Amino acid sequence: MAKLPRYGEPDGDAERRRYAGIVAQAFAGDVDAFTGWINSAGPDVRLLRDGDVQAGLVFYRMGQFFGGRSVPTWGVAGVGVKPELRSQGMARELMSALLQENFELGAPLSTLYPAAPKLYRNLGWEFAGSRCAYAARLSELPHGDGSLQVRPLDDSAQELLSELYRRRHAVENGCLDRIDRIWERVKRAPRETPLCAYVVERNGVPEGYTLYIQKREPGAGFRYDMHARDLVCLTRDAARELLGFFARNRSVANHLYFYAAPQDPLLIELQLNQEVRVHERQDWMLRIVRVPDALQQRGYSAHVKTEAQVTIDDPALPDNSGDWTLQLSDGRMQVERGGRGGPRLHVRGLAALYSGSLAPAQLRHAGLLTGTEQHDAALQAMFAGTTPWMPDFF
Ligand SMILES: CC(C)(COP(=O)(O)OP(=O)(O)OC[C@H]1O[C@@H](n2cnc3c(N)ncnc32)[C@H](O)[C@@H]1OP(=O)(O)O)[C@@H](O)C(=O)NCCC(=O)NCCS
Repeated sequence: MAKLPRYGEPDGDAERRRYAGIVAQAFAGDVDAFTGWINSAGPDVRLLRDGDVQAGLVFYRMGQFFGGRSVPTWGVAGVGVKPELRSQGMARELMSALLQENFELGAPLSTLYPAAPKLYRNLGWEFAGSRCAYAARLSELPHGDGSLQVRPLDDSAQELLSELYRRRHAVENGCLDRIDRIWERVKRAPRETPLCAYVVERNGVPEGYTLYIQKREPGAGFRYDMHARDLVCLTRDAARELLGFFARNRSVANHLYFYAAPQDPLLIELQLNQEVRVHERQDWMLRIVRVPDALQQRGYSAHVKTEAQVTIDDPALPDNSGDWTLQLSDGRMQVERGGRGGPRLHVRGLAALYSGSLAPAQLRHAGLLTGTEQHDAALQAMFAGTTPWMPDFF
């Protein structure tokens, strides 16, 4: 039998199961649950092997909204190396091989949540946005005036959820253009805390929805907390109506936990009555895998007409390195080789600039942008936008 290549897709169920064993041990989880997760990824699983499976990962082919347009990205998850083989460069080898494949055949971006940021930074990923969970006391939530109605949804409502999600999140830098596998994650709930789904409508026209579970903390008696997976409000009235809906559980529940942008309109509403604290924050990293495609597929303001030159440094993908000219007009970016005399921008800095996470002056303080400051104002105007975030984890 021919020897399998060092890097590649699992060869059948046995290799999938062996990788499931590695991730289950790495993340202290259940092998059967991880096997199901790996199988749901179909062909989007990659392993390193030398006879036996040594390391692996899963990826999601999805989109991420930047400047109002969905840009394809490979979202990487489940990176794991056998415990006895760690600190020998195996994760670096696996991620380098994936990056090369991503560059040659895949999406212009790659996105991930890092447990070991140095591993990814070394290869060109940089922190570029956050996922913040906030906590609010139910007893102090605002109420709607009753002009909108809240109605339960059943499993047939996916199309409506997708439409409302998209209308709210497509304008936010960094939010995922969700694929089915991400929606399944959002909706997955343990049997003892089933998912609840409600839409808020004005005369039958939807203005928002929520998906949530109810969870009792050990030792809290009969009281519980409400955890929104999605709390999507297209209008201020919808926000007040849904918050009031949650508040009507205050006799038996304490808090509402929800994901929102760092400067979310929902927070403005809540902060009228209470201090809203960040309960948990995780930061995600972005990799600009193919510089011209990534820049040309992003959205931009149609009111900015400007040009900038940059010299990109990308040690891991040298095809991205070199001089580039960026021309923006009518909301479309043209990217061409050449144009000397611009500043040096590390590809990690480009990721943070691209997402809207760091402006040129901040990149300079981080050492990711050096040389002439002549193009900084143009770069700032091109990438100005909302603070990048996402409500999802993957
Ligand atoms: C994190 C993990 C994948 C690293 O694998 P590995 O083969 O040991 O890593 P490498 O030897 O290729 O090291 C690559 C870089 O990652 C960094 N790194 C490695 N292990 C790390 C760890 N446990 N914590 C933080 N950083 C780590 C190293 O510093 C190294 O950078 P350097 O060469 O500049 O020093 C491995 O320890 C693992 O499977 N851990 C459990 C699961 C996990 O955390 N996965 C990451 C999810 S994003």
